[in-house]
Amino acid sequence: MFITFEGGEGTGKTTLIALVKKELESKGYNVILTREPGGSGSLFAESIRQLVLDPKYTNVNPYTEALLYAASRAQHLDEVILPALKNKTIVLCDRYLDSSLAYQAFARELGLDFILNINKYALDHLPNLTFYIDLDPEIGLKRIKGRDKIDRLDQEKLTFHQKVRSGYLEVAKKFDDRIMTIDGDQSIDNIAKIMLDSIMSKI
Ligand code: TYD
Repeated sequence: MFITFEGGEGTGKTTLIALVKKELESKGYNVILTREPGGSGSLFAESIRQLVLDPKYTNVNPYTEALLYAASRAQHLDEVILPALKNKTIVLCDRYLDSSLAYQAFARELGLDFILNINKYALDHLPNLTFYIDLDPEIGLKRIKGRDKIDRLDQEKLTFHQKVRSGYLEVAKKFDDRIMTIDGDQSIDNIAKIMLDSIMSKI
């Protein structure tokens, strides 16, 4: 089973995946946790991650960025995800194709067709289940900053993240057979329970 986790900043994604992994392992399942961009276990994909997330590169063309995310994804599939699935291991992946749809197709406005085209390989290997944790970016950004007010720079960030959120909501509507939207404005324990119930009913 291939399960992906999606959401904006401050949604608690990373904590949630770790909780889900622990619970599934306690039930006796083999589980691996990986993430994008990059992917634990693929040197090449991790090198692309370093490149694409390095703040020293300013002025990166959005097409360059989108192609790098897609490139790292193809490598990640071949070196990590597909071998694990073949080995009957549950793969939990922090971000996948839907991140490119929300961030690159919608927020960066490159369009759904282009992003789907360059991600053809990932489209051939869609997750069995995707959790999208939906949260107002204002709440998410405050959570990670640990303060009440957001400044001018954050405000810019906020507009971008609002576009990411509406992108995700569109993507979740379009692929509603695979994507489950969960309200992120509730306790981590509640969200983890919703996720586990849904995974167990699929297994
Ligand atoms: P990361 O530090 O892993 O952040 P997070 O904890 O939010 O997952 O950085 C991943 C960043 O890359 C995040 O801002 C989203 C972005 N991203 C894309 O824009 N497109 C993609 O396809 C992927 C996988 C990530």
